[in-house]
Amino acid sequence: MAVIIAVAQQKGGAGKSTLAANLAVALGADGKKVVLLDTDPQQSLARWYGLRAEGTAPLTFESPSGWRLTGAIDRHRRAADYVVLDMPPHSDTDARIAIRAADLVLIPLQPSLPDLWAAEATIKLAEDEKKPYRIVLNRMPPTGRLRDVVTAELARRKAPVMKETLGNRSAFATAFALGLGVTESSPRSTAAAEVQALASSLRKLKAQ
Ligand SMILES: Nc1ncnc2c1ncn2[C@@H]1O[C@H](COP(=O)(O)OP(=O)(O)OP(=O)(O)O)[C@@H](O)[C@H]1O
Ligand SMILES: [Mg+2]
Repeated sequence: MAVIIAVAQQKGGAGKSTLAANLAVALGADGKKVVLLDTDPQQSLARWYGLRAEGTAPLTFESPSGWRLTGAIDRHRRAADYVVLDMPPHSDTDARIAIRAADLVLIPLQPSLPDLWAAEATIKLAEDEKKPYRIVLNRMPPTGRLRDVVTAELARRKAPVMKETLGNRSAFATAFALGLGVTESSPRSTAAAEVQALASSLRKLKAQ
């Protein structure tokens, strides 16, 4: 049975598609069957997938929308090891369907208070559906006041945060433009190490 991971965040541009694509690639690197589902009408992941060259790690990709989403998740649940769902911003209905089907909701969050406030709607959706969720801090500065303020605010709220974070790195945009994950395009980069660390933590969740 697959672990269903929904990457959701109603705030636009938070890093959902970047996180979903990179995680899907990294989770599949050891031969695991990974299905990536793009439910965003913008279809950024469909375009990313279209750029993938032969010889890259096998990845099943579909872009089901609306009522087709539940069927697609059910179909892949039995055969795959991981199903990673990329959600559009501002879509309550699709987000709710995906979150309901998910074993884990990952909420990418850029470290700013307005972004944190904007994430509240997604956190509430996950809580309403009684689904475990984790915030993934994205474009995180290595040090500084902003990092401290956002970390403190998340701690005050007792929000569950993955200890692995992603920095603000051009490798993510470069890999995306090539239809790759950073672990494929620049495996020795800091970005790749960050994605590997996140994927390792998520594998442990599956093993539990
Ligand atoms: N860690 C990062 N470092 C550098 N650039 C990043 C990082 N994460 C995301 N980006 C860039 O930020 C932009 C938005 O990222 P992405 O498309 O993944 O967000 P999204 O949440 O899927 O957006 P939307 O809500 O429009 O679907 C992209 O140009 C992407 O390359
Ligand atoms: Mg997106």
